[in-house]
Amino acid sequence: MRKKVIAGNWKMNLGVAESVALIDALSPLVADAGNVEIVVCPSPQALYPVGLKLSGSRIKLGAQNLYPVAKGAYTGEVSPTMIKEVGCTYCILGHSERREYFKESDEFVNAKIKSCIEHQITPIICVGESLAEREAGITFERVGTQVKGAFKDIPAEQAATLVIAYEPIWAIGTGKTATDEQAQEVHAFIRAELVKLYGAAVAGEIPILYGGSVKADNIDGLMAKPDIDGALVGGASLKADGFARIVKFEI
Ligand code: 13P
Repeated sequence: MRKKVIAGNWKMNLGVAESVALIDALSPLVADAGNVEIVVCPSPQALYPVGLKLSGSRIKLGAQNLYPVAKGAYTGEVSPTMIKEVGCTYCILGHSERREYFKESDEFVNAKIKSCIEHQITPIICVGESLAEREAGITFERVGTQVKGAFKDIPAEQAATLVIAYEPIWAIGTGKTATDEQAQEVHAFIRAELVKLYGAAVAGEIPILYGGSVKADNIDGLMAKPDIDGALVGGASLKADGFARIVKFEI
């Protein structure tokens, strides 16, 4: 059985004091959550203090990005060894905001995934179409290209340890969630692509999270779908009580 994962992407929203206050508020609320992997992804300057708070906790720490080299002259970048040192076991990669604003290509995302694998960090690999792509009827083509690009030259035994997040760009921060059926349709497509690449056993191990305006009041319907294995939550992960309710989804 693949694991369920609920991850909070705090994006560039919280300073150190705010991040620590959020984790202090969240931790007791999710201590009794069921069988779900809980991940929080603060911004880089808050990883260390939040990581200290999470020592011994069931909540896992994730970064929002990395540069795929262990160390060197890369001004402004953060390496896999650096995020590991402060306690990260997850890293979001290829988020649409990075693909759009920082021109990250499928090749670069693939290099980052390989770097995560090398450093035993679980990547949460984001894919998703824009509104124009959906309206042009090329959602599957777009998402298929991103999935194939992400998994290029990654052997099956490593592929089985990765996590995907389907995040339709038109649903991010817009309050306009994909319907349960729209999300399931693309998740099933991604699963079918993984079956083609790796076979059913490996494809069945890979959690596919949904992201895009996930909230306390829509998580239950999404999680009831067979190929939706969790959520990557932006805005609603910034409030402890709302995120805790998402973590405690009911199906
Ligand atoms: P929102 O939940 O704010 O729509 O953001 C989704 C997202 O981009 C998570 O990575």
